[in-house]
Amino acid sequence: MLKINDEYVNKVKHWFSGYVEIFKNGDDDLLQNTILKEKHTKEVCKNILIIGQQLNLNNNELNFANIIALFHDVGRFEQYAHYRTFADNKSENHAELGVKILKEKKVLSQLDESTQSLILRAISYHNRFAVPEEETEKCIFFSKLLRDADKLDIWRVVTDYYLNNNGKKNKTIELSLPDTNNFSEEVYQDIINYRLVDIKHLKNLNDFKLLQMGWVFDVNFKPTFKLLQERNYLEMIYQVLPKSEKTEKVYSIIQSFLEGKIN
Ligand SMILES: [Fe+2]
Repeated sequence: MLKINDEYVNKVKHWFSGYVEIFKNGDDDLLQNTILKEKHTKEVCKNILIIGQQLNLNNNELNFANIIALFHDVGRFEQYAHYRTFADNKSENHAELGVKILKEKKVLSQLDESTQSLILRAISYHNRFAVPEEETEKCIFFSKLLRDADKLDIWRVVTDYYLNNNGKKNKTIELSLPDTNNFSEEVYQDIINYRLVDIKHLKNLNDFKLLQMGWVFDVNFKPTFKLLQERNYLEMIYQVLPKSEKTEKVYSIIQSFLEGKIN
């Protein structure tokens, strides 16, 4: 069984804060993006604990969940410092980079091999299209928990940006996609068929917004669906989409799917 005490969690949190500090000594652009990911990490930790508590995890399991959330994006800081982008396809896979950093810096060396391996696998799966089915039950569970906690916070980041950016563009968040009218038929087809939107189908910013709404099909746990509903993220994205019969249909499909998962 997993044995991770509160003291160990505090210790690695301390390491993480010190590690992030290094990236705050550069230019303003690096500082802003470092702060963005530091805040994201904090929120993913909060989310994973809320979901985990609602799933009745014990203290060891909650500590384990806290640690995978804390380190899931540890590769982001180095990625931005080196490549000046968060786009993995224009730089490198940030989950794998994070695993490499944790290994090189021996951050988890006090833990037994199997716990270390479980943490690194959960991190490496957080940004994949899906968690590998051949993994152990425990690994699949925690990987899914992390993916839920992560998605909830990405919804916070993007909706805050869409509604409060006051016309100021952030290419990092928009993946440099053009903000043109309408959306792609393939993206629409993915959603109305209850499929995750294929990233290859993205042509503009509206497609990306639809993809983010479609993440609801990849949520795993009931407490996450509830939090998603309470926080109104899907409605906020719908608000910033062009109004048409098709977007109305997308929104109604997504809303009924969410309600079905909650009731
Ligand atoms: Fe990530």
